[in-house]
Amino acid sequence: MDLESIRSSYRRYAKHYDRIFGPVFAPGRKLAMQVLDIEGGQRVLEVGVGTGLSLPFYPEDSRVVGIDVSPEMLAKARERVENQGLDQVEALLEMDAEALTFEDSSFDAVVAMYVASVVPNPDKLVDEMRRVCRPGGDIVIINHFASRNPLLRGLEKGLRPLSRMLGFRPDMDLDSLPEMEDFRRLDVRNANIFGYWKLVHYCNGPLSEEQATAEVA
Ligand SMILES: C[S@@+](CC[C@H](N)C(=O)[O-])C[C@H]1O[C@@H](n2cnc3c(N)ncnc32)[C@H](O)[C@@H]1O
Repeated sequence: MDLESIRSSYRRYAKHYDRIFGPVFAPGRKLAMQVLDIEGGQRVLEVGVGTGLSLPFYPEDSRVVGIDVSPEMLAKARERVENQGLDQVEALLEMDAEALTFEDSSFDAVVAMYVASVVPNPDKLVDEMRRVCRPGGDIVIINHFASRNPLLRGLEKGLRPLSRMLGFRPDMDLDSLPEMEDFRRLDVRNANIFGYWKLVHYCNGPLSEEQATAEVA
């Protein structure tokens, strides 16, 4: 996967994206909002915002910045903001998630939905999400991770050569996402009924006393 093939895939997808991927991914987007539980005034970054299907779900008193590499997907997101009067959207910017131009600790929460297996280097994506998220902030990643069922896993591996055409890697492993002392996985949940997509919730930095107590309990 490289940026040019990603742009070219999503140039093709943009027109039909909402019809095809709107309903399928909707439960995950709603779950992300529940997990993030954004408070008034908080600033949130959504990387790979696509056509902005999640934007109407952010609270009116939050401030949301969305970035994406596909101009065609962003154009759809901008139309949505305009048509629905989504004042919580501060900006929609063309930017590479692996090289964000924001200062360190610029956001209270950072979310990437259905993006980690699309970007060329998921490690860089996570590093950048961490860098721009304040210490103690929430990071949420929703993605399809390689199945634990050996038969499906084999099938997903077989599809890998088609990644450039599909616009995502079908066999990304959950274990390839980092987990460290100062970047703790708080939770992994099914993001749809079959658990094909999972939501991974991290705390950026050491756990607060409250979170650490909840972990022990
Ligand atoms: C499957 S779509 C998900 C869109 C949206 N998050 C949703 O829930 O529908 C993946 C999106 O990630 C974007 N993307 C892929 N690689 C990217 C990168 N390196 N930086 C920013 N956006 C990227 C694509 O252009 C596309 O809009």
